[in-house]
Amino acid sequence: MTAQFKQNQQTHGAALLVRIKPRTSALVRFTIDGRPATAHIGDTILTALLLNQAHVRDFEFGGSQRAGFCLMGACQDCWVRLRSGPRVRACTALIEETMAICTEGRAV
Ligand code: FES
Repeated sequence: MTAQFKQNQQTHGAALLVRIKPRTSALVRFTIDGRPATAHIGDTILTALLLNQAHVRDFEFGGSQRAGFCLMGACQDCWVRLRSGPRVRACTALIEETMAICTEGRAV
């Protein structure tokens, strides 16, 4: 765990990312495993997740968690499931109002 991550945890709860330049676009309200969260229009799902918690999804082959790797649609490390059913690649899909994202266990 890096010093920056520890500082982020103290300042922003469990978030892995910290926005260094404020966005002026409207807020988007969505849920992560049923918990309310916010992001901004234009954020990817991956950005929205990591601004609110320290991982993108649980790893299906063990007890660890994943946070994406390439951030550009190549590695397939960031698939999450929407409560409505479809799987989406979090680094290439934009967050939408009322989106319900499942990141836990077999839900992915
Ligand atoms: S982080 Fe690699 S495909 Fe999304």
